[in-house]
Amino acid sequence: MAKLSIIVAPDRRLKLKSAPVERVDAAVRRLMDDMLETMYAAPGIGLAAPQVGVTRRIIVVDIARKGEAPAPLRMANPMRLWTSDSSVVYDEGCLSLPEQYSEVRRPDRVRVRYLDHDNATREIEAEGLLATCIQHEMDHLDGVLFVDHISALKRGIILRKLGKAKRTDALAGA
Ligand code: NI
Repeated sequence: MAKLSIIVAPDRRLKLKSAPVERVDAAVRRLMDDMLETMYAAPGIGLAAPQVGVTRRIIVVDIARKGEAPAPLRMANPMRLWTSDSSVVYDEGCLSLPEQYSEVRRPDRVRVRYLDHDNATREIEAEGLLATCIQHEMDHLDGVLFVDHISALKRGIILRKLGKAKRTDALAGA
């Protein structure tokens, strides 16, 4: 496995729409494993392929807490089958928007169909944090970031902050 570098916003590559994978083969499986390693190292609870520069519909998620057994989900071509009318608010962050958080409201239950690491079709019904995390990662596949769910004013503040941090890093040679 290999750790990949994570693209930080603002970056136009994070706004692209990702293409479906034809099938989950060895190369896709390797990417899923590399994404998990990258996510655990960050650390984070979800990562989408476009965040590591691959515009394919692949996400990985693991919301297990420290000390709990890992529970990684590897999903290709995830598709929403159903979302609940009831919603929930979480303070969301994103590995592509380091140290930025904002409350986002989303459906609190979701049913998703996807291809697993063996190219088998599976369905999952998720709720709470897992449902939020899966929806957040699926958004990335359509070029949507969590800040696209908040007010333009708040979004502008966060993106300007990140843009400034990037320029400072570039000057420092980081
Ligand atoms: Ni994210």
